[in-house]
Amino acid sequence: MDAKNKAIGVFDSGLGGLSAVRELMNVLPCESIVYFGDTGRVPYGSRSKDTIIKYAQQDVNFLLENNVKMIIAACGTVSSVATDLYNTSPVPYTGVVNPTAFAAAKATKNGRIGVIGTSATINSHSYKLKLLEINPEFQVFEQDCPLFVPLVENGFTNPEDIIVKSVVERYTDILKKEDVDTVILGCTHYPLLSDAIGKAMGEGVTLIDSGKATALYTAKLLEENNLKTENKEQGEYKFFVSDTPHNFESMASMFLGLDVRSQVTQIDIEQY
Ligand code: DGL
Repeated sequence: MDAKNKAIGVFDSGLGGLSAVRELMNVLPCESIVYFGDTGRVPYGSRSKDTIIKYAQQDVNFLLENNVKMIIAACGTVSSVATDLYNTSPVPYTGVVNPTAFAAAKATKNGRIGVIGTSATINSHSYKLKLLEINPEFQVFEQDCPLFVPLVENGFTNPEDIIVKSVVERYTDILKKEDVDTVILGCTHYPLLSDAIGKAMGEGVTLIDSGKATALYTAKLLEENNLKTENKEQGEYKFFVSDTPHNFESMASMFLGLDVRSQVTQIDIEQY
């Protein structure tokens, strides 16, 4: 098959990367996508650097075996910690940190930017370092939110839910006090909580969704590498997970607004 017409590979530790898939479907509707969600080993964000690197490499190996033309690490944690993959991948590869930092830099008016992410992402300071490289005058405030991923993976996303509300307020209070006007959702699971986060932060605060910024950057990368599909119809979507597909299927169908129930396959990621 002509490289242009191969699928884009996307991976995350679980459901979170679907926030990138949703944006990819909007920005590049004719591109096919192979998605891997490591639902059997989620969360990544509270694990050691070595474990995250090992998992990310296996995820990449699986996608390469599926003959993808490029790879998106739709995971803030992998993008922040497994940084060697940017250089070792045999196909064009992007994470979410750089495109998202540029989008936040463009959006802020007062130069005060909040970053929320998993503990591994926040401890790496990846977003902060990139923002300060873009503009050393920025004031960047970081907060890890370890309870967000388990909430999302268990379907707790309704902003009116008392549990969702209290957890979100607990983490966002510190950023509110710092008067940030822009908040980076530095983990791809967090756009599933964006209604609750937006409500807690209040009007006038822009939330930067890493999925959207990364989808726009992917379009640019495909163009630069002469890899844009020639297909004129809607692309094909395949989903793989490392645990039973049931929960993923219902959450993914709801989130993507698309019935993906017959398209999710369970695989053994430890083989890769
Ligand atoms: N969605 C991922 C991220 O963007 C990983 C969350 C996790 O597994 O802890 O960081």
